[in-house]
Amino acid sequence: MGYGCCSTMVLVFCIWGMFLISVSSASRLGASRQKFEVNKHLNRLNKHPVKTIQSPDGDIIDCVHISNQPAFDHPFLKDHKIQMRPNFHPEGLFDENKLSEKQNEGSNAASSITQLWHANGKCPEDTIPIRRTKEDDVLRASSVKRYGRKTHRSIPKPRSADPDIINQSGHQHAIAYVEGDKYYGAKATINVWEPKIQQLNEFSLSQLWVLGGSFGQDLNSIEAGWQVSPDLYGDNNTRLFTYWTSDAYQATGCYNLLCSGFIQVNNNIAMGASISPISGYQNSQYDISITIWKDPKEGHWWMQFGNDLVLGYWPSFLFSYLADSASMIEWGGEVVNSEPNGQHTSTQMGSGQFPEQGFGKASYFRNIQVVDSSNNLKSPKGLGTFTEQSNCYDVETGSNDNWGHYFYYGGPGKNPNCP
Ligand SMILES: *[C@@H]1O[C@H](CO)[C@@H](O)[C@H](O)[C@H]1NC(C)=O
Ligand SMILES: *[C@@H]1O[C@H](CO)[C@@H](O)[C@H](O)[C@H]1NC(C)=O
Repeated sequence: MGYGCCSTMVLVFCIWGMFLISVSSASRLGASRQKFEVNKHLNRLNKHPVKTIQSPDGDIIDCVHISNQPAFDHPFLKDHKIQMRPNFHPEGLFDENKLSEKQNEGSNAASSITQLWHANGKCPEDTIPIRRTKEDDVLRASSVKRYGRKTHRSIPKPRSADPDIINQSGHQHAIAYVEGDKYYGAKATINVWEPKIQQLNEFSLSQLWVLGGSFGQDLNSIEAGWQVSPDLYGDNNTRLFTYWTSDAYQATGCYNLLCSGFIQVNNNIAMGASISPISGYQNSQYDISITIWKDPKEGHWWMQFGNDLVLGYWPSFLFSYLADSASMIEWGGEVVNSEPNGQHTSTQMGSGQFPEQGFGKASYFRNIQVVDSSNNLKSPKGLGTFTEQSNCYDVETGSNDNWGHYFYYGGPGKNPNCP
């Protein structure tokens, strides 16, 4: 391209034109650098599949050989011998089948829940299903580096000294929790809903937290549950997820298998894949059971989905405090409020209904339990509750023979009492 037009009369316009040319080529350069970074990241994340399954929701599920999974990119795991099953299960794992026969409230057992992609195929033995990360997924993140990570300050801290900080962070919770002992795991059966999200950068999740350390820069956390997160997945589907960090969400950890750490051994369940079916208001109710416990022999933190699906483990060396034990367990919901000036979002938590609505309307956690130092599942002692603004999202605990310790939680967010 020549600049010969820059003679006397049109000089001003020409200089303007040259300026435009240099701006646009700089942004082209920026765009191509970003594309290069994104592709590099995708190549790192997406492993060569043995088989590929197209899910009805648009996801692509790659069946990747078990020894080729992202965990083994970790320098400490180069020579790791994969453990195909835990040495021990916690004693007293709740008998779900007996329970659902006894139960008269009509809730379906977790085993009836599947993932949408199962409609179109299965992953062979010796592979694990991995939700493929697409270019758009990464482009939605604020930066390639932040993709798959949580922002700081999203850990619910009951009885926090500084309420302003809780409110400023935009994260709102309605949880039950125990602390003051050493915990070696936790379990819950979680009602599954599809809460409405008001804005793309907000999310709504229901999960359990296994926490180690005080709430400082080195907090350790293992998390699992379901979430709706348009930012992370590009839609409003309810998805199974896990998360871990060993430094309060700063440099380590990620969702699902989006960084190396978690070692998956199961060929049936894909982290980050959509759950189906979902509970309906005054209609069929569905729930998922999640158990996380520390293997007393190897020290790894294992995760089980439902009654018999052992998903895999977080190796003990990923953590500092959790290499020994957890100091706090939390169960419940979290949303992000991105409305400015103290206003409130209409993003729902749980089913979007307040706890007092009860079964079939409000969302619940039932049979919440902790694992003690003898590897026994026990009822939680001294269960506390916490919510930043109970008129937006609330929590109510209870206990009975069928459900053990349980709670209803959630709410609509914005409403006349939560402006
Ligand atoms: C957060 O802010 C709201 C409204 O400003 C207030 O009612 C609520 O008490 C605050 N929460 C905490 C934990 O301080
Ligand atoms: C997700 O829900 C929001 C509003 O609740 C809507 O604007 C958006 O189009 C939905 N996204 C998809 C992919 O369905």
